[in-house]
Amino acid sequence: MPAIIESVTVYRTHSCGELRKEHVDQVVTIAGWVNRRRDHGGLIFIDLRDREGITQTVFNPEVSAGAHRTASELRNEFVMKVQGKVSLRPPGTENKQLETGEVELIADNIEILNRAKTPPFYINEDVEVDEALRLKYRFLDLRRERMQRNMILRHRVVKFIRDFLDAKGFLEIETPVLIKSTPEGARDYLVPSRIHEGKFYALPQSPQQLKQLLMVSGYEKYFQIARCFRDEDPRADRQPEFTQLDLEMSFVDEDDVLNLMEELFTSLVETIAPQFRIIRPFPRLSYTEVMAKYGSDKPDLRYGLEMSDLSDVFTDTEFAVFRSVLNTGGIVKGFAAPGCAQYSRAQLAELTDLVRSRGAKGLVTMALDGEPGDPVTGLTQDDVRSVAAKFMTVDQIVEIANRLGARRGDLLLIVADMPKVADAVLSGLRSEMGQRLGLVDPNLLVFAFIQDYPLFELNDEGHWEPMHHPFTAPRAEDIGLLDTDPGKVWARHYDFVCNGAEISSGSIRIHNRDLQEKVFRILGYSDAEIQERFGHLLEALECGAPPHGGIAPGIDRFVMLLAGEENIREVIAFPKTQSDVDLMLDSPSPVSADQLRELHLKLIED
Ligand code: AMO
Repeated sequence: MPAIIESVTVYRTHSCGELRKEHVDQVVTIAGWVNRRRDHGGLIFIDLRDREGITQTVFNPEVSAGAHRTASELRNEFVMKVQGKVSLRPPGTENKQLETGEVELIADNIEILNRAKTPPFYINEDVEVDEALRLKYRFLDLRRERMQRNMILRHRVVKFIRDFLDAKGFLEIETPVLIKSTPEGARDYLVPSRIHEGKFYALPQSPQQLKQLLMVSGYEKYFQIARCFRDEDPRADRQPEFTQLDLEMSFVDEDDVLNLMEELFTSLVETIAPQFRIIRPFPRLSYTEVMAKYGSDKPDLRYGLEMSDLSDVFTDTEFAVFRSVLNTGGIVKGFAAPGCAQYSRAQLAELTDLVRSRGAKGLVTMALDGEPGDPVTGLTQDDVRSVAAKFMTVDQIVEIANRLGARRGDLLLIVADMPKVADAVLSGLRSEMGQRLGLVDPNLLVFAFIQDYPLFELNDEGHWEPMHHPFTAPRAEDIGLLDTDPGKVWARHYDFVCNGAEISSGSIRIHNRDLQEKVFRILGYSDAEIQERFGHLLEALECGAPPHGGIAPGIDRFVMLLAGEENIREVIAFPKTQSDVDLMLDSPSPVSADQLRELHLKLIED
């Protein structure tokens, strides 16, 4: 990355991260913040910090009584400029932790550029600080090394993406933020119009329709580092406003988009985060397969712990828990936790609590005793510890163990519930066991593409909803089924996942008016609604729309992975809290009666 100092200014000749042995005896000026101050019987040591590093400066009354006097006023976070001669540190006092640790600056001139109140938390140490306090004083929090590292990483990721796509012939085109509602499955943020009484703009949940329209306009390869806005329930990996690499291409099929993503993300990681290993080629898995094996369409593929459906083994079971679930359309499914047969009662209770907290009725465990690692052949009823064992034959137990790839010494974890609940719970349990068993390699990124999704799913009211968004094309061979059996139509959709996180989703789009209208109708839109909400798009599809498709990786989520952060807020300069509040700006906040009147709005008292 280029250095912060390109040329000498009145404030500095060098940065605080720059001075080395070869600068010894040069007279230099540096500027920055007081990172730490130490008074050592006459000598004052100030560690001066800027974005590039820290330099130790020494104030000796014999070198400059005036500078020494001023230095005694300095406190942490004061802003100062200091001039002096670079000197080798006395032998034995070098600091290997600092890149500038071989030298120090013997100060003879100092200017305090600004004073600072005592900060509400340590800036110079990576200690745990209450997050609300950090967010209220975000301008100080961002001064901390961890946050600077994350912001620099984010900058480098975005810069890499821009350069990479530019070299591939993509154009970056900005699309407006005041638009009209575009369905991505969340609530819209609305902006009332002052000029048009009673009318509202919507902030884009994504530039989806606009990028498709740009394809109709002939731009062929578009991207944008796009801000998106979604009013949805907060989660550790969600923010109400976030950033996507939004991308669209014409005359492409699925492989063209996925190959581009594979090349982009591979070269990005190799260049910017080479500490990570990646596995190539990125696996391409079907939705059905990953749901069956991992209970989730964003599996962490750094480890196995694969699941199997065991329902058929229990068709005639006497075990009431399983029987009642199976009789009401549920499934029995599980996986094996290697080497966990000796889990204590308390450990098992913990796992049961975990699955209950995620909505399952309970957890059935089966501990397979014997020499750990031995095959399950020859297993007897006595070798199995489980409440379910007495309702099962040895053959059934062996069958289950084999399906789950289990060996003696393993613990089988089995859930019986409705399919959605069983999958969600087992997937959570799988992540937990992956952690407990130390299977999660923090230096490995396993990317994968998930394909072959159904186009629609039934919502709780029994209406069809798009699995993703309504612009996704159905597979050509399934188009006939739209009229007869929409649930059987497969989508030309793909998700892009990494280490258990959904990094992005995308699809080949519908580029034909009749087909798009048909999909809207299946989704329950009336003709009037279709015209009102999507008239522009439908018209564009009649004006020479090329075949096109795209994808939109979430920048925040990906940077979060690269930074090893658990929360998306750590990679966003000014994020909102868990309850969508900006604690620094105190937003959202009330507005004046005048502003409301201008916008033709009246607040309703509940
Ligand atoms: P989708 O809705 O799947 O697709 O979003 C794409 C990616 O954006 C990121 N993302 C978020 N990141 C942080 N906070 C959020 N609230 C949030 N919501 C989504 C995720 C997600 O995978 N227009 C389509 C893409 C397309 O079809 O081209 C879209 O927006 O990483």
